[in-house]
Amino acid sequence: MSERWAIILHGGARKIEPEDAQDNRRGCMAALEIGHGLLSAGGEAIDAVEAVVRQLEADVTFNAGYGAVLNAEGVAQLDAAIMTGADLAVGAVAALEGVRHPVSVARRMLAETDGLLVAGGARAFAARHGLLDNETGGEPRALSRASGDTVGCVVLDRSGHMAVGLSTGGLSGKSPGRVGDTPLPGCGFYVDDQVGGVALSGDGEAITRTLLAARVMAALECGTPQNAAARAMAHLDRVGGEAGVIALDPRGWMGWAHTSPHFAMGLASHQLSPRVALHQSELKDLLHA
Ligand code: GLY
Repeated sequence: MSERWAIILHGGARKIEPEDAQDNRRGCMAALEIGHGLLSAGGEAIDAVEAVVRQLEADVTFNAGYGAVLNAEGVAQLDAAIMTGADLAVGAVAALEGVRHPVSVARRMLAETDGLLVAGGARAFAARHGLLDNETGGEPRALSRASGDTVGCVVLDRSGHMAVGLSTGGLSGKSPGRVGDTPLPGCGFYVDDQVGGVALSGDGEAITRTLLAARVMAALECGTPQNAAARAMAHLDRVGGEAGVIALDPRGWMGWAHTSPHFAMGLASHQLSPRVALHQSELKDLLHA
C-alpha cells in the first residue's frame, strides 16, 4: 500500500454572504477531517467519498440531503451519484424524496445493474434497502440556508483507487421532476483510476449542455488537473451560467476553478494538511499549473 492519498471536496459554487462564510469553512473542514482520517489510515476511496458526502448532506449550510432547497411545490427532490474509478461502476438517483442521505442510496446501487433510478423507482429502491428516513419523510423542511448548488468529493486512496460522490437539492423553486447534472456521468461527474476524477457544481442545465465532466476527463489525459479545470470553465462561455469544478489525478495532483463569485472547497493529501477556501485565489500556492 502506497503512502500517497488525496482528497478534494466542495460545498457548492455560488455567492456566499459574509455572514455564512464561517459556516461554509467549518462545514467543509468537518467533512475534510472525516475523509482525511479514513484515507490516511488506508481506508477505501468509496467509503471515504460516501462518508464525506454524508457529512455535507447532514449540514444545513449546504444544498444537499437534510439541508436541500425545495422545489416549486415545496418538496425536497434530491439528486445524487457515486462512481468508482477501478471498475467505472455508477450508482445514481434523481428526484428522490424522503431520504436524508441520497448518496448512500446511490452507493447501494453500485452492486445493481441499474445505474440511475428516478423519482418513485429510486424511492422504492431506498425503501427495499431500509434507507428511507422516516424523520424527514420527504416533507418540506425549508431548513436550508443554501441558495442552490451541489456538494461533491473526489478521492485517491492508498491502494491507488479513486472515487467520486456528489449530492444536491438542485435549484431552489425548480420544476417538480427537474433533474440537473449531478446524477449524470460525463456531465456532473466522472472518475477513472487511470485518468483521474471530477465533480461539478453550479447551473445544471449549463453543465449538462456543455458536457463539462467529459471535457475535464479528456483534458486530464494530457494535462494537469488545474489546467483541465480552467479549460472546462471556459466552455461555459458558450451557454452562460455559473459553475465550479474540482479535479484530481492519480498522482494526487489537484485542480479547481469557478465562475461563480465563491466556491466553498477543501483539500488534503499525504503531503498537505487540511485546508479550506471560499475562493480559488486563497489556495493559489497549491496549484500544479
Ligand atoms: N448542479 C446542480 C443542479 O443544477 O441541479
